[in-house]
Amino acid sequence: MNHFLDINTTGVSDLRGMIDSALAMKTARNGRPKGALDDDQPLKDHMVALIFEKPSTRTRVSFDVGVRQMGGQTMVLSGKEMQLGHGETIADTARVLSRYVDLIMIRTFEEQVLHELAEYADVPVINGLTDRSHPCQIMADILTYEEHRGPIAGKKVVWSGDGNNVCASFLHAAGQFGFDLTFTGPEVLDPEDVFVAEARSKGVTVTLERDPAKAVKGADLVVTDTWVSMHDAQSARERRHNQLRPYQVNEELMAHANPDALFMHCLPAHRDEEATSTVMDGPHSVIFDEAENRLHAQKAVMRWCLGK
Ligand code: CP
Repeated sequence: MNHFLDINTTGVSDLRGMIDSALAMKTARNGRPKGALDDDQPLKDHMVALIFEKPSTRTRVSFDVGVRQMGGQTMVLSGKEMQLGHGETIADTARVLSRYVDLIMIRTFEEQVLHELAEYADVPVINGLTDRSHPCQIMADILTYEEHRGPIAGKKVVWSGDGNNVCASFLHAAGQFGFDLTFTGPEVLDPEDVFVAEARSKGVTVTLERDPAKAVKGADLVVTDTWVSMHDAQSARERRHNQLRPYQVNEELMAHANPDALFMHCLPAHRDEEATSTVMDGPHSVIFDEAENRLHAQKAVMRWCLGK
């Protein structure tokens, strides 16, 4: 069963195949209307369940459009309106959904829900974000980097801010795609040790640097994310802002990166908090290519899951 649960648990050659397939599919669609079917329609007659226990714009729309372009059909389900984990076990939900649909994408809180769903489902399950990882986003980010600058292997990626779930998937990707990652942020918001150790065990350099200017020196890619994630307590907002303000990505910070460095943010962004509008709309920024590439990368992920 080809579940897509995390980048570190998916084979390197499979990941490379998905990035190459995403680029080929994107190129093949060049200039066509968004609603036009792909020529080969690999998901014809397939039904895909998209389950959201948290809000979403990009993940929801890009998966829905991607399935439709490939000739399949979707049902978008809200966790609140389902029995998932409330009136019914995750295992039973997995068994039932498997009788109706060919593929399940879920955005949830605890990664245990994702893993239990995958364990008991008879169809592939895709991680559309948990509190600990966001692999589909990073597949889109790798695609975006390579479209603009060529292979990411051997490059220096700098994550500035909170060592959150998106940062964790970047660390997973560092080990699998072979790039170095420098995290810069306050110690209390460091990524989990397990993510750092695993990437290091795969031979890449992971650095934790408190000084953002020093961290960004020589960067090929600078990435940040919102300072308060969906799973963080909103009561922590003021404290987080005080801790993270020195790590804002602004023009002054970007000036320490390589001249052709890219800037990424998975969005949604709080403009002029974690990154200034001058950077988000400036010459280094590829944030809307990243958003578009969610569509192409996830189409490749779905094809891989279904063996298409
Ligand atoms: N980046 C991302 O996952 O966006 P959404 O929360 O809008 O899906």
